[in-house]
Amino acid sequence: MTTNFLRWKCAAALGMLLWMTDASFSQSKSQPYEGVPGWAETQDKRMEWFKEARFGLFIHWGLYSAAGGSFEGKKYPQHYAEWIQTWGKIPSAQYAAVLKPKFTLRSFEPKSWARLAKKAGMKYMVLTSRHHEGFSLFNSQQPYALKNEVTGSANLSPKGRDLYQEIMDAFRQEGMKVGAYYSLLDWQHPDSYEAFQLNPNPDNHKPDHDRYKEYLYGQIKELAQNYGTLDMLWPDFSNKQHEGESWGTKHILTDLIKWQPNIIINNRFWNGLENKNGDIGTPEKYIPPTGLPGMYWEVSHTMNESYGYSAHDQNWKSFPKIMQLFVETVSKGGNFLLNVGPDGDGAIPAPAVQIMERIGDWMQVNKEAIYGTTASPFQALDWGYCTQKAGKLYLHIFDRPASGAIDLPIKNKVMAAYALAEPGSKLKVEIKEGRPVIPVDVFTIEKGPKVIVVEIQGKALVEESLTQTQADGRIVMNANNAKLQEGKGLKIIGAHTHDPNRPNAIGQWKDSRDRVYWDIKIQKPGKYKVLVNYLPHAKHQGKIMLSLFDQQLTHAFAAENGSTFKEVELGVVDAPQRAIGEPSIRVSLQATAIEGEALPEIATVTLIPVQE
Ligand code: GLC
Repeated sequence: MTTNFLRWKCAAALGMLLWMTDASFSQSKSQPYEGVPGWAETQDKRMEWFKEARFGLFIHWGLYSAAGGSFEGKKYPQHYAEWIQTWGKIPSAQYAAVLKPKFTLRSFEPKSWARLAKKAGMKYMVLTSRHHEGFSLFNSQQPYALKNEVTGSANLSPKGRDLYQEIMDAFRQEGMKVGAYYSLLDWQHPDSYEAFQLNPNPDNHKPDHDRYKEYLYGQIKELAQNYGTLDMLWPDFSNKQHEGESWGTKHILTDLIKWQPNIIINNRFWNGLENKNGDIGTPEKYIPPTGLPGMYWEVSHTMNESYGYSAHDQNWKSFPKIMQLFVETVSKGGNFLLNVGPDGDGAIPAPAVQIMERIGDWMQVNKEAIYGTTASPFQALDWGYCTQKAGKLYLHIFDRPASGAIDLPIKNKVMAAYALAEPGSKLKVEIKEGRPVIPVDVFTIEKGPKVIVVEIQGKALVEESLTQTQADGRIVMNANNAKLQEGKGLKIIGAHTHDPNRPNAIGQWKDSRDRVYWDIKIQKPGKYKVLVNYLPHAKHQGKIMLSLFDQQLTHAFAAENGSTFKEVELGVVDAPQRAIGEPSIRVSLQATAIEGEALPEIATVTLIPVQE
């Protein structure tokens, strides 16, 4: 899937966009804020509301919404339906002529969008003021936007109206902060970097990039000056060739902070989703496995596959899955910007409405465990995620442990513990082997994770966490709870934008002394089958050794082609009776020979009890 998608995007983008390559993850060499004064020194203050908010709504709405993933009878199966013009190599004039009449606004009720977002517990909203197609929801007064020979006009609002204004006002009225997504790419403007990639150029016009920079500056000025407070600007996006000064960023940032002294700016004036040159990192459709330490960040995620509306994209994530992405993001210190793509009539698809309503029901009860919280003090937890505030740990339980209780790896004294849904109820906390054990009653995950508040004194004093036995007797050691041997190149490699469903895995095994370990709690003696889940690769080859209970198993990985994780059985180990009494058992996995560029990535090591 991923490979196909890359092929589509690369082919369709006519070789102009390097965004899809690893370049998107590379660090930019530009200076933070292009060195413009006024930004770095005010950052902490400007970021205050963002840290508190944790949860926002992304809205992708433009002419592509009227296409809904099909153009003139042809269905485009690609994700990112807002790219349909590029997928279909459609000239801007034809694109506008076909889609403008379909952008009907028949069901457009921005106030109900805003009420829905508020009900879902979202604290801010980011709207596509203009996407790559080059059409604006706001009434731009730039000469090109008002009148041009390519598409007539680049403004989308009907006469006498300003759709951008109507949406911004509606959200402000609900007390939410508002941000403008603004595309740096432009597939129609004759002076943009993408000029004539899709459009004919009979007069051989040579794009004048300085004029395009003036256009960007002029439009951003309009967004910042004509519509009241703008809380966030979300430019999108750069690549290695075009970043920073390619957009005239210095000029823009010098004035933007004067026009809107409290504005937050994302990092996409520069190349790389994780670059540190703006206020916030912007991982797209993936959660960085260990968060993005040292910076503010926000994950944007879709409820189905696409940001822009697509009638045939019915691959909706389940409500528990959305909750997992949301809570995982917050537990790692990020904000969650959940996307909706209204259709050409202005209606938000019913499954999206339903998901938002269900999040709202959960937030109604559990919002305290989200707003203003900071990252979990724990590396990973078997049953879910943790968020915290001074003196309080919020345990978001997705899987109720088989024992019916959570063995919390902290040394603190617990002052009180209760379910957030029933603040009056006190849970009886027992202390076992020095750790608090907190009972969790049965609940249904269809309503969202159960949140238990644990009140402690002072900062959480975290103990090494133990990997516990699951309800079915298996012990699953994964990349998230692995302890990586320090000082080597070993690294957790996670999902990314174009492979959002791949698991986190331990990768970059390049040194024959590389080693990881897990401390596990064994509950049953006897034989266990050992399975390793790994990613085959044509250049990844070598040997590993797994040690536990004084026993060793080895395995040689051959170089293999493959793009999905698969399982190999290493053998069987015997857990002796004495292992049961031990507070913990260490399982270590080490490289013993690297024969290719590295060993394959390893996602999990699982012990499965053998029925005797
Ligand atoms: C990318 C895409 C775009 C989408 C955005 C959301 O830059 O090009 O279609 O709007 O990311 O993060």
